[in-house]
Amino acid sequence: MTIDLANPDLYTTDARFEMWEEYIRSDAKVWSDPGISPSGFWSVFSHRDVSAVLSPKAPFTSEYGMMIGFDAEHADHSGGRMLVVSEGNWHSVLKRLIGPFLSRLRAPELRSVLHEEVREIVERLRSQETTDIALTVGPRLPAAIVCEVIGVPLSEREHLIQLTNHAFGGEESSFDKMTPAEAHTEILFYFHELIERRQKEPGTDLVSALLADGRLSTEDVLINCDNVLIGGNETTRHSITGAFHAFQAFPGALDTLRADPELADRAVEEVVRWTSPAAHVLRVATEDCEIGGQQIREGQAVVAWLAAANRDERLFAHPHRFVVDRAPNRHLGFGTGPHHCLGAALARLELKELLTQLAAEAKAVEPREEVRWMRSNLVQGYSGLEVSMRWR
Ligand code: HEM
Repeated sequence: MTIDLANPDLYTTDARFEMWEEYIRSDAKVWSDPGISPSGFWSVFSHRDVSAVLSPKAPFTSEYGMMIGFDAEHADHSGGRMLVVSEGNWHSVLKRLIGPFLSRLRAPELRSVLHEEVREIVERLRSQETTDIALTVGPRLPAAIVCEVIGVPLSEREHLIQLTNHAFGGEESSFDKMTPAEAHTEILFYFHELIERRQKEPGTDLVSALLADGRLSTEDVLINCDNVLIGGNETTRHSITGAFHAFQAFPGALDTLRADPELADRAVEEVVRWTSPAAHVLRVATEDCEIGGQQIREGQAVVAWLAAANRDERLFAHPHRFVVDRAPNRHLGFGTGPHHCLGAALARLELKELLTQLAAEAKAVEPREEVRWMRSNLVQGYSGLEVSMRWR
């Protein structure tokens, strides 16, 4: 019997961890017949197999798409144009153009934006009896940072942050009549308009740099801004929410971090491992090959379950525990190989600022309701995390 691992209902409870445990231990390769994903796909789960699929030398491509839903007949229309779904020379061109805007070099200028954003979050939390972290806290920082990277003028930023929150599942009452998909389209319209402005008046932002290069069409600029928008928002907000979940589920962690703030970097890595918001990435074989003894035919898709590999007990002792000072921590939360997350430095910066201020001020995170997981095979994330904060 085959199981359709694309079924999003499999990921709405903690039972997924038990399912993965067996697969990880046996280095399983599981075939899912065409169903929710029209062309069917192989799945790998262990740290070893996932690393093998994503290794730079492995004969796989992202150009048909990088997530479940892969359809051999109708490849991703952004394939070969958008950073995350392009390969080879064009991928290098885009990486060189976009990379500097997401790199550690930007840390000094972004740090003050982040510090202020986190201050506001903490103040707001202090004034509330209970809060749904997934809706009110998680989305805020990533949206602000993406605006900063793309070069949204200050006066338009609040509007775009709220629109982004709505598009990626937050809650903004001012957008009552808009669905999240419509909010995403609205953002793309906004980017389009921003591109037109930057064509006339270039600045020092990402949009201007992509235009100035001369090799990208207006649509290429648009879809690559969309890549940064999705990459920066879809994932980080769940790691931020998950940090509160971790502090709630493992109460000692907050005290350990407060006692030794130097542990913040390790804590950030553990948050990314434990939360693993990018549950999987997908690749398509460019030739017949073998992964851990399993034959894969040219054109077949392989799904690498990052979230499972990050719970591989051969790499991580007590993998389901959140160990705030875990070291070493060779997690695959940001992927690995040529497409390793280009925004990892920014995500780390966001998480570090949050963890540092939380450890200094919060005493405990107490649950108010059961955690609600998103119904998604792609994003391992939260649709609800209602908590009460206790302060020092
Ligand atoms: C790529 C995860 C934050 C932008 C990736 C990939 C993963 C990932 C797994 C690899 C995709 C693949 O192999 O197909 C995460 C996680 C984050 C995070 C877990 C937060 C905790 C961010 C942020 C940004 C960003 C903050 C930008 C502001 C990107 C981009 C790529 C990427 C542009 C494409 C890189 C390429 O294809 O060369 N991310 N990401 N990510 N991410 Fe992130």
